[in-house]
Amino acid sequence: MTPPEIACFKDRTVLVTGASRGIGRAIAQRFAHLGARLAIHFNTRAQDAAEVVASLPGAGHACFAADLGNEISRRSLIDAVTATMGVPDVLVNNAGLYQLTPLAHTDEPVWIDTFKTLIEINLIAPAHLAYLTARAMIDQDRPGRIINIGSRGAYRGEPDAPGYGSAKAGLHALTQSLALALGPHRISVTAVAPGWVETDMASPHLEGPRGSEIRSQSPLGRVAQPEEVAAAVVYLAGIHAEYATGAVLDLNGASYLR
Ligand SMILES: NC(=O)c1ccc[n+]([C@@H]2O[C@H](COP(=O)([O-])OP(=O)(O)OC[C@H]3O[C@@H](n4cnc5c(N)ncnc54)[C@H](OP(=O)(O)O)[C@@H]3O)[C@@H](O)[C@H]2O)c1
Repeated sequence: MTPPEIACFKDRTVLVTGASRGIGRAIAQRFAHLGARLAIHFNTRAQDAAEVVASLPGAGHACFAADLGNEISRRSLIDAVTATMGVPDVLVNNAGLYQLTPLAHTDEPVWIDTFKTLIEINLIAPAHLAYLTARAMIDQDRPGRIINIGSRGAYRGEPDAPGYGSAKAGLHALTQSLALALGPHRISVTAVAPGWVETDMASPHLEGPRGSEIRSQSPLGRVAQPEEVAAAVVYLAGIHAEYATGAVLDLNGASYLR
């Protein structure tokens, strides 16, 4: 007999944004091993995205380019995925951007421009993709899941990247509001809030002078691997997690308890 987790994802379409590398790639790989058909979104790294598609078990996977900072590109992304693979059963809003702008050392135009960009990529884009995907699910009367990749920074603070911390706090609040709005349509909306994860986004910090201090923030003495975030996302998309809707799951190795 097919195990329920595999039965649950077989022939399901899962759209993962920012799946050309890092956490998104690990999420895509885990879903594909459970029988899902993956829509791999990327921004600039076409070659990396093509390699992810080639590495996935199963058939029917495809990659899609879109700059999520652009409203028209976001609409085109959902249109293209829907036309090629059908309405996604699961949307994972994973793509994200982290930029440092320490207030005391950043000129006003750069500080405010960066703040706006971080809100656009990390909050407005996932909100827009959630809107478009949920409307398509509702139109076809299909249940679904939306999973947002938030951050510990929403709670612990991001002193040198306040736009990032603000956007992630907004993303957690969006998750809860959409969970209430979309529950009647059998669309569950959840988030995970990782602490540091070993990816390109984190490597300049982990490899720099702060590396050992960052690892020591957790009593485990390490940061997370992308696969640990992927396992949580797959759980939240699975048949046993519909009732987790509205949850923001901390994955930070007890480095910040709230
Ligand atoms: N790493 C951490 O320590 C950490 C901790 C907490 C939360 N997170 C969150 O986890 C998620 C994944 O992070 P990661 O560490 O895997 O990041 P990463 O390795 O830097 O990868 C970022 C991904 O986002 C895509 N992306 C960036 N800007 C984009 C844009 N303007 N339009 C479309 N796509 C864009 C990139 O596409 P291309 O490769 O094509 O450019 C890439 O696929 C993010 O939401 C991040 O905030 C990460």
